[in-house]
Amino acid sequence: VVSCPATGRFDPNGPDDFALLDQIRREQPVFFHEGIGAWCVTRHEDVMTIFREPESFANGGMLDVTVPMPAAIIAEVGADYVWPNHFALNQTDPPQHTRLRKLTQKAFTPRTINRREPDLRQLADELIDGFVDDGRAELVSAFTSHVPTNAIAMVLGMDRSYANRFPGWVEAHVSLMAVPDMSEEEAVKQWRRLIESDQLTRALIEERRREPADDLTSELIAARGDDGEPSLTDDELIANILGMITAGSDTTSILIANIVYRLLLDRARWERALGDRALVPTLVEEGLRYSSPVRGNRRTTTREVTLGGVAIPAGSSVYFSLSAANRDAEVFADAESFDLCRANAGEHLAFGKWAHFCLGAVLARLEAKVALEALLDRLPDLRLAPGQDQGLPYYNNMIVPVLLGLEVEW
Ligand code: HEM
Repeated sequence: VVSCPATGRFDPNGPDDFALLDQIRREQPVFFHEGIGAWCVTRHEDVMTIFREPESFANGGMLDVTVPMPAAIIAEVGADYVWPNHFALNQTDPPQHTRLRKLTQKAFTPRTINRREPDLRQLADELIDGFVDDGRAELVSAFTSHVPTNAIAMVLGMDRSYANRFPGWVEAHVSLMAVPDMSEEEAVKQWRRLIESDQLTRALIEERRREPADDLTSELIAARGDDGEPSLTDDELIANILGMITAGSDTTSILIANIVYRLLLDRARWERALGDRALVPTLVEEGLRYSSPVRGNRRTTTREVTLGGVAIPAGSSVYFSLSAANRDAEVFADAESFDLCRANAGEHLAFGKWAHFCLGAVLARLEAKVALEALLDRLPDLRLAPGQDQGLPYYNNMIVPVLLGLEVEW
């Protein structure tokens, strides 16, 4: 009897199957997956190698929009229009990435972000005010999805009403990247959203160039290189502001929902957090480790590389699984259990590492902390609605899945 190897059962676009990932990590941690045409990498140590060597594992072109502009859009913006996405951090490689990263990081400092904590708490409280008297809620659409969009709008100094447009902008980018045979009507709809995202952000930048304010957009405009490097152009600013919106919305919503879910699934954990708020920062790290909101990502090899003893040719597509790396028993004792006090939870790779380390990690951590504290304070009797104990429902994919809902009561 020939048994199917574990790797043959791995579906990167399916739900996380942690038992299977564990078997693969032990038996064949680096392997080629025909379905996605990529080398899959599952061990913590090998994923770290990818992060350590951005020159060998390139990002360039990864997020290109591939659906061409339909005639109706060309008539509106001209055939020469280019959506400025190719200047985004997660789309570029050194040395271009190095310059963009240095400048954006100068603006995106812990100081700029952390002083927003009282505003974020107010935002969380306003959202909770909207449903606190209902006795039940679908927490993703009522709460977790709004925290990141409003937080990013607030930090950037955008009108709060823009936050409601972000999901449409993100959907436009993702679908124009990925859907090969899109109808003309759909392409027009999605391209209009993409162009709107460009125009509204461009208008904000023009406004702040004329009159700087106390916000991240003004700081990004003002950021200067130490060594005569040119400051960010308008297209670079737009690409990176939109990049923050895309990278920071669904990810943070998933993180908050997952932590709430894990705490409520075994309610003794919720009770512990109620009694000891000092646990919250570790809880956030363990939430990131246990259910990595970014399940994995791709790179392209620029030369032949060896990972986990496997030779991978130049020009290959590589997919690293953060879901697998973050449950690696070589790094995390009792990796399959959600541990409120895990001492080394912070060794997770849920934010990546080094060159492309998540620019928004400080904001994401702050949002998660504030959102959890607000829920603990305002809804101490929170519990899962009946039938919610079989795992959270997702529309799955191999990078950031779409979380469909979390029904709770109190
Ligand atoms: C829980 C929430 C979040 C998670 C789990 C997360 C995860 C990640 C990961 C894994 C990467 C690296 C990807 C790679 O190396 O291929 C990344 C990069 C990035 N993230 Fe986040 N992220 C989160 C929230 C945010 C927020 C709130 C923002 C901004 C407001 C943001 C902005 C970015 C940007 C701009 C990059 C690209 C950095 C670069 O390539 O230099 N992220 N994030």
